[in-house]
Amino acid sequence: MQKLTEMLQRSVADGTFIRAVCSGKFDKTVKKCVFTPAERKSGPVILQERFMPDGKALHSFCGCDNFAQVLSDISVSYKQTDIFCGDFTASVLRSKKGAVHISYGKGAKAPAENKPDKNYILSPDKKYDFLVMLGIQDKNGRVYDKKQSKFRQINRFLEIVKDTLSSLPEDDLTVWDLCCGKSYLSFAVYYYFRYILDRQITIYCVDRKEDVIKECAGYAEQLGWDGMKFICGDIFKVLPDKTAELVLSLHACDTATDMVLSEAVRRGAKVILSSPCCQHELASQIKNEELSYILREPILKQKLSVVITDALRCRLLYAGGYKVTTLEFIDPEDTPKNLMIRAEKTYIPKKLRANALKEYDGICESLNVRPSMRRLLDGFLSDLIEGDM
Ligand SMILES: C[S@@+](CC[C@H](N)C(=O)[O-])C[C@H]1O[C@@H](n2cnc3c(N)ncnc32)[C@H](O)[C@@H]1O
Repeated sequence: MQKLTEMLQRSVADGTFIRAVCSGKFDKTVKKCVFTPAERKSGPVILQERFMPDGKALHSFCGCDNFAQVLSDISVSYKQTDIFCGDFTASVLRSKKGAVHISYGKGAKAPAENKPDKNYILSPDKKYDFLVMLGIQDKNGRVYDKKQSKFRQINRFLEIVKDTLSSLPEDDLTVWDLCCGKSYLSFAVYYYFRYILDRQITIYCVDRKEDVIKECAGYAEQLGWDGMKFICGDIFKVLPDKTAELVLSLHACDTATDMVLSEAVRRGAKVILSSPCCQHELASQIKNEELSYILREPILKQKLSVVITDALRCRLLYAGGYKVTTLEFIDPEDTPKNLMIRAEKTYIPKKLRANALKEYDGICESLNVRPSMRRLLDGFLSDLIEGDM
């Protein structure tokens, strides 16, 4: 242990120490204890995070000078301690009776999640009050380990929003976030427009969960973000009166996505960003002799219905005058629900839109399906195309 303590102390001194993790505390009062280099006003320190059995994380700092000895003392209470440095790794296994086994390995690379990505709109090194309130960052501004993928998702989403800026008004933007849940994205979008781009923005967030809406409205009030409005209700019954130029909807269940898309088309939204989920509707309707070799397998039928549901939505958006792109919203390893439909209002000649609608109706007939989005736009689309020059 003495040799390891000296090696570790050298790594801390020359800046190649990456991380140490103590796990399996004998008395089970702490789940895991993680040590990483950090900076404070006074200079470099080691951040100690103790992950407790009730899900809380407690933070404290140790000095760099005697860190290796501190870790050596702490590790006595844990079954395993793993140490990662640029020039070596070490794993210490300890029995309850005090027997110690140490194995060494090659140097480690700094974990990707600890390296700030320069392209991020929200920096992983900066504290954002709204992310602290939403439980994504701790009070020191560190993104919780469990929330890393949410943080990446929010940043990726902001990049997608950024790519659509040319289709949106320069100021006084109105946004709807339908089926907003905890409104992570809306808080981030509000921050982006109001505080990064310095633009006026009003966001209406709608969800039928009263407690969630109340909680989010409370956060917005505490932040003083009076451009964020929260409405509790079913989007099939309650929608904001004020029309939005940007309509967002992430993981609105099943036909709620059809409601979002059709209402956005009806109101002439400039940009729609929708990430569908739980596409169940067509699975119970779809029938097609030529596809019977797929449809006879329930899982494949379900998967095919999902793809057809979203592809038909895209076609209908095109008929409604939108340039449509589908994107992989985030790493599929983070969530399987990662498809994003991005639709931007553009000029599409009447003939092409009419053809798209005709083609759409033909496909629906051949598959024996009647998607909600088509029903919700009944009459509207043909009138829109007819009235278009
Ligand atoms: C999977 S969550 C997604 C929440 C949030 N958009 C996100 O991605 O973090 C789906 C949300 O949609 C809401 N929801 C589903 N159908 C709805 C409806 N018809 N009207 C209002 N909210 C609805 C649920 O209450 C839930 O909060």
